[in-house]
Parts: sequence; structure tokens; C-alpha cells
Amino acid sequence: MNDSLRLPRQIAAVAELRREVAAARREGRRIGLAPTMGALHEGHLSLVRASRAECNLTIVSIFVNPAQFAPGEDLDRYPRTLAADLEKLATCGTDVVAFVPGAADVYSPNHAAWIEVEGLSGVLEGEFRPTHFRGVATVVLKLFNMVAPDVAYFGQKDYQQVAVIRRMVADLDVPVEIRVCPTVRESDGLAMSSRNAYLSPDARRRATVLWKSLCLARELVASGERDAEAILGQMRDVILSAGDVEIDYVVLADADTLEPVAQIAGPTVALVAARIDKTRLIDNEVLLP
Ligand code: PAJ
Repeated sequence: MNDSLRLPRQIAAVAELRREVAAARREGRRIGLAPTMGALHEGHLSLVRASRAECNLTIVSIFVNPAQFAPGEDLDRYPRTLAADLEKLATCGTDVVAFVPGAADVYSPNHAAWIEVEGLSGVLEGEFRPTHFRGVATVVLKLFNMVAPDVAYFGQKDYQQVAVIRRMVADLDVPVEIRVCPTVRESDGLAMSSRNAYLSPDARRRATVLWKSLCLARELVASGERDAEAILGQMRDVILSAGDVEIDYVVLADADTLEPVAQIAGPTVALVAARIDKTRLIDNEVLLP
């Protein structure tokens, strides 16, 4: 780590954040927001860089949002690496502010208002994590209201999350532009994720089957295959070849509505979720844009 890099300014209180953003806005600066739960990796940093390329002040929120974890999920053991996160943000350049609220800064003890994005929140991830997207949508809308960014940056890695947030922004007339950044991968194709830290070395090696299955789907479509079940069968075989893996879903879906398709005709995305040694991993790839 380069000692000469200055750590970004760190703000915990919403009132102070608002003052910082208001001052920047008076100077005519464009405000970008990259919401994260910390344990930052190159995927997160790609959002920060995308924001710095078109905004003059980038707020990176770091908040492990309890509302998007169900009881029994990994809230307690979710990696919290604030010191390292701030050092990584320092490498992104100046004009980056870390917004690191405590749970009490975000949720009052009487919190009662929730954002439900019907339909999209109930399928795929929603079937396995029924309260997840209401927690995500609620905290993201709160962050939009706290920061009032011009532009907000999200990763394609969480494809359904982007669909839910876009729907919320459109339906509730939230004045923010949404940008989606490509999935950043390890050299063997595994999508970067804070949860990869849970994988044992052996599980880490086997986890590449998710990306391999998506590459296979892409190749099959490129060679003319249009039948979803034919593609899905081969994708499942690739994933199960890892051994000791449980598939939650492997789906080819309409790229906008996320409804499963039987035949590939228009824009289609392949989405996979599987548990390898109890670590739940998700990935996706657009097959036809
Ligand atoms: P988190 O998992 O920390 O991810 C923060 C942002 O980084 C999300 O937009 C996610 O899609 C993006 N991201 C994660 N891995 C990526 C990768 N390999 N390549 C590109 N982008 C990647 O997603 C959340 O947090 C939370 O749900 C949040 C939106 C912050 C609300 O709490």
C-alpha cells in the first residue's frame, strides 16, 4: 500500500453527508453514488471508477444492510473490512467520500415503511430469499434520499437487483440515472463477490463451474441453439460436475421481465444460483442482447 495516498473522507451521520453533498451541488458538481456493503473488491471499485469518470463527487456507501438478510443468513459473519476498504478507495483518486453509517443512522427503532417491488422481487432470488429485495429496495431508496445523487452505479453481477431497482426508480419517479457496470471476474472467470471469501480452496476451485456453464450457454446460442431446455440441461451437467454442489436455479429468462423463456427469440439472460459447500453463489450472462 502506498503511504502517500490519502484515505477518503469518512462520514457516518446523514446530516453531515447532506451538508457535504449540498456544498458540492452549490459548486455545480455532479454527484455519483456507488452503494456497497463493503469488503470491497475490484467489482466495487469498477463502479467507483465509472462514477469518477462522469461525476465530480463520488459517494461510496458502505453499510451491511440488516434488512436484506433473513434470519439464519450470513449477516453476522458477512466480512467487515473497513480499514482495507478505505485504503482501496484511496487508490481510486480524490473526490471520493465514504459514507459509513451505523445501523442507527439508517433505521430508526420505529422503522415501518418498506418498498415492495411486486413480481420481480418474488422470482429467482426471491423464491429462495423472499424478504431480500424489499430490504434492498428500501435501503437503496433511503440512500437515494440521503445522497440525492445524479447518477447511481450498480453491477450486472446482481442482475435481478438492477431490475428491481430500475422498476422502483421508474414507478416512484426517483430522479436518478441508473448505470450498470459489467461483471468483474477473477482470472478463471469466477465473478468477484465478497462471499467468495467463505470458499475453502477446494470449493473455490470448483466454483468456476458457474461461469463455465454460462460460457457454454453463450456458445450454444452462438452456434444457433434456441431451445431453452436443451441449453439448461447442458448447463446443469456442467455445474453438477463440480460435485457437492446444490443448484438453486438455472434459468433462461427475458432480459427485462425475468420471465423464463422456452425458446430464445429476443433479449435473453442466463441466471444461475448454486450452493457450493454451503456458500451460495450467483452469476449471470446476457445471451442475446
Ligand atoms: P454488494 O454486494 O456489496 O455490491 C455492491 C455493488 O457492487 C452492487 O451493485 C453489485 O452488483 C456490485 N458488484 C458486486 N460484485 C461485482 C462484480 N464482480 N462486478 C461488478 N459489480 C459488482 O449489492 C449490494 O452490495 C447491496 O444489495 C446494496 C445494493 C449495497 C444494498 O444494500
